Amino acid sequence: MPKKNIVVVGTQWGDEGKGKVIDWLTDRVGCVVRFQGGHNAGHTLVINGKKTILRLIPSGILREGVPCVIGNGVVLSPVALTQEIEELESTGVDVKSQLVVSASCSVILPSHIALDQARERAKGKNAIGTTGRGIGPTYEDKVARRGIHVCDLLDKDRFWSKLEPLVEYHNFLLTNYYNEEPVSAKESFDEINKAFEKFGSLVADSASVIEAVKNKGESILFEGAQGTFLDIDLGTYPYVTSSNTTAGAASVGTGMGPLNIESVLGITKAYTTRVGAGPFVTELHDETGMRLAEKGNEFGSVTGRPRRCGWFDALILRRSARMNSLSGLCLTKLDVLDGFDTVKICVAYKLNGETFTEMPMDSDLLEQCEPVYEEMPGWDVTAGIQNIDNLPEAAKNYLVRVEELVGVPISLLSTGPGRTEIAVLNDPFSEETAVNAAGEI
Ligand code: GDP
Ligand code: IMO
Ligand code: MG
Repeated sequence: MPKKNIVVVGTQWGDEGKGKVIDWLTDRVGCVVRFQGGHNAGHTLVINGKKTILRLIPSGILREGVPCVIGNGVVLSPVALTQEIEELESTGVDVKSQLVVSASCSVILPSHIALDQARERAKGKNAIGTTGRGIGPTYEDKVARRGIHVCDLLDKDRFWSKLEPLVEYHNFLLTNYYNEEPVSAKESFDEINKAFEKFGSLVADSASVIEAVKNKGESILFEGAQGTFLDIDLGTYPYVTSSNTTAGAASVGTGMGPLNIESVLGITKAYTTRVGAGPFVTELHDETGMRLAEKGNEFGSVTGRPRRCGWFDALILRRSARMNSLSGLCLTKLDVLDGFDTVKICVAYKLNGETFTEMPMDSDLLEQCEPVYEEMPGWDVTAGIQNIDNLPEAAKNYLVRVEELVGVPISLLSTGPGRTEIAVLNDPFSEETAVNAAGEI
């Protein structure tokens, strides 16, 4: 059994293919733990042609016997979790034998969802384009120290004593500020209690569960949701989610100290996509963008919204590599670029007549940047390739160029949605020095 503990993060704006890769890596670890976000995530696994979309439950759940932990950094909707457990159970997955829910997760209430949606409506054309799942308001209440934790649900009196004033406060905002309907505290109480019956037995001091796995000498896989530039601190603010999505959050979101993190794998789409509003320098509004969207099936797995598409942006990746301490990249969806005569990589930005190679952190400036592209010859087919030696030369050159520009070696290459459509360039668990896509150290 390998020893390394690995954090997996999205390096762009989410939907890079994290779920697929986590499922693949789970084969070799002692547990998988989600450390942030909530059911705004949508992680797709395709196994023997069968598609499973996970929202809250870690993407290791389809590997029998591997404990899957929802860590304390996650915001948890009891109703969404119950639905997801039931969906998986109906397909024969024994969820309860694997799933652990942290007693310290913040609870998403119906009034958080109402507030999220009311705020988006009030913002009109300036809306963030949230998933409408109550993520932002729940994190707000957590930071304001008035939130409800999963452990509060264990005692009904305690739960009600915290819920009633909180819903009253939410209703004040909903009715007086947003002119919306109030939410019933009693109905929320009943709905959550009912949902809790389904997973109450899975609640634990999750940090101790993970610690026990570590003490057995087994690896821990930390599963990130969303992507680096949706990070509340490091992303394209305010067009971000409300959690820290970068690798540093793996520690605080699970209760495992930072020295437990030995490797960070950055999941990176071979091009770029984004759902919702916000700056996106390489976005394509033309036929090429449509071709990427169609070939890549770029529609949100949770909301069904079309994803905005564009070429690979080396500037954002370089910043992502630094902010996450990336040890390796997993380049996904290379097959979506199959058949293009040429492919482009953004290597610099232009702003007010100046050219520069560092991504600005100010979203207003980023919005005004124009991409400067390098064009490379395309290739025929990479779909399904599992051995890098079988890649067309032009595809290999693309990988080498990505590595050069980002400054991080590619560990894994994904060439299709299926579990087995993956090539290993550098084993993410190995201690050996990584080679580049050309096979050089
Ligand atoms: P996540 O949120 O990062 O887990 O990514 P999503 O599951 O939301 O979106 C990624 C989509 O791409 C899913 O539909 C996957 O099945 C699919 N996918 C993952 N890797 C590949 C790949 O290498 N090639 C292709 N064509 N599809 C992929
Ligand atoms: P996975 O884990 C892509 C985006 C939303 C919106 C912004 C804020 O599947 O990669 P929120 O509901 O979180 O307050 O919305 O963040 N967003 C995602 N985009 N993939 C995701 O998750 C996302 N989760 C949130 O579209 O722009
Ligand atoms: Mg997704």
